[in-house]
Amino acid sequence: MQLNYYIETYGCQMNVADTELMGGVLKHDGHRRVPEPDQADVLIVNTCAIREHAEQRVIGRIGQLNRYKQSRPEVRLGVAGCVAKELGRELLDRATYVDFVVGPDSYRQLPEILARVEGGERVVYDRFNRSEHYENLKPYRLEKFAAWITIMRGCDKFCSYCIVPFTRGREKCRTLESVVEEVETSVADGAQEVTLLGQNVNSYHDGGADFPDLLTAVAAVPSLARVRFTTSHPWDFTEKLVDTIAGHDNIMNHVHLPVQSGSNRVLKAMKREYTRESYSRQIDMLRDRIPHCALSTDIIVGFPGETEADFEATLDLMTHTRYNSAYIFMYSPRPHTPAIDLTDEVVPRAVAQERLECLNELQRSIGAAYLLEKVGTTQPVLVQRAARRGRGLLSGWTEHRETVVFPGSEEMIGEIVLVAIGGFSGFTLHAEPVGEPCPVGRYRGELNIIAG
Ligand code: 5AD
Ligand code: SF4
Repeated sequence: MQLNYYIETYGCQMNVADTELMGGVLKHDGHRRVPEPDQADVLIVNTCAIREHAEQRVIGRIGQLNRYKQSRPEVRLGVAGCVAKELGRELLDRATYVDFVVGPDSYRQLPEILARVEGGERVVYDRFNRSEHYENLKPYRLEKFAAWITIMRGCDKFCSYCIVPFTRGREKCRTLESVVEEVETSVADGAQEVTLLGQNVNSYHDGGADFPDLLTAVAAVPSLARVRFTTSHPWDFTEKLVDTIAGHDNIMNHVHLPVQSGSNRVLKAMKREYTRESYSRQIDMLRDRIPHCALSTDIIVGFPGETEADFEATLDLMTHTRYNSAYIFMYSPRPHTPAIDLTDEVVPRAVAQERLECLNELQRSIGAAYLLEKVGTTQPVLVQRAARRGRGLLSGWTEHRETVVFPGSEEMIGEIVLVAIGGFSGFTLHAEPVGEPCPVGRYRGELNIIAG
């Protein structure tokens, strides 16, 4: 049987990469991806459980997708990802229209799941599998020029607020050889840029190689113009890693290093295992070796017990660190996590909301100052697609991962071109192309000319 399937993805880049994995498994089994749910026989929602709001949103969406089953009873509906793992069988009980639940370690079993579902069963595949690294599986990539490569899955850090160790299990790393092989295949298929993905990529270890070793091996893949990685944890953010970034032209000078809070008291309660002082020393070391390294972070406001003084400490850290960008979240109590028991110290929602807005406001002005510095410079941009708004406009991103919009023809998509930045609005840079596009593989040479 050949089925048409549709997958909708929520949450982080790990989920985007997992959607591509599911696509690979389903393609191998003879099924066909369709872009809209009304053309599909199988609907899958790949879900995120990180905050309650994210979870409720996907549960609402599953309810909406049920309307396709009502008009075409042969349609099957499945829930994948973190909510699938978190709720498991409960999902089948709560939503009678859900046909299957598949957790992050069970995507290889999709053909078996679909066969059972076609036979009339409702099934749950939500066990952890320590040995499932999804090796020898070709993902169905949604983007040709920028490939997401999962190098590790799960997390061993157990920060007191985070559900991930319970939805994605303990940390497990692929071998260096299999990661490099996948990078080589994606480059052969047209990728200019790869992003190495994991909950804590810098704690990667395959028994022999550590993360800087892996980065070095990946950066050596011929014709690979850009290497990125996300997310890092300050615990494993070493000088060796910074030297590795500094030592390779094609490893992008952009680090995402979540700090979560600027208060040592809150960091301790979060079980982050570092202090604001040790974190700031790491940033100083990074900026000392790579002066123009872009830096982004994640911050949680309203963690239980966060006082005005704790919040001021975060404000102060952000003022001094000057991030290029920051994702600021309101704390959300999650099942299984130790922080959910801190019910005596809850920060009122209105206070947390005010702190969130205050940090966002500060970050907006710092971020805008960085964009302003770019105006008048020439930047290499990986052209991604036709811009969503504006005819004849293309959109792409810089080394620092800023979005750039500029006029150009669609043949430029997938190339790295030089553009002159003329201005910006919101978080988007506006530019004009200068000269000829850099052909694939000549990027490093071009970059050296600019630097010289
Ligand atoms: N509440 C709010 N934000 C959270 N994050 C993780 N868990 C929670 C939670 N319970 C944020 C952290 C993390 C990012 C991916 O999501 O900042 O770095
Ligand atoms: Fe959401 Fe975390 Fe799961 Fe990613 S790993 S989808 S952020 S809960």
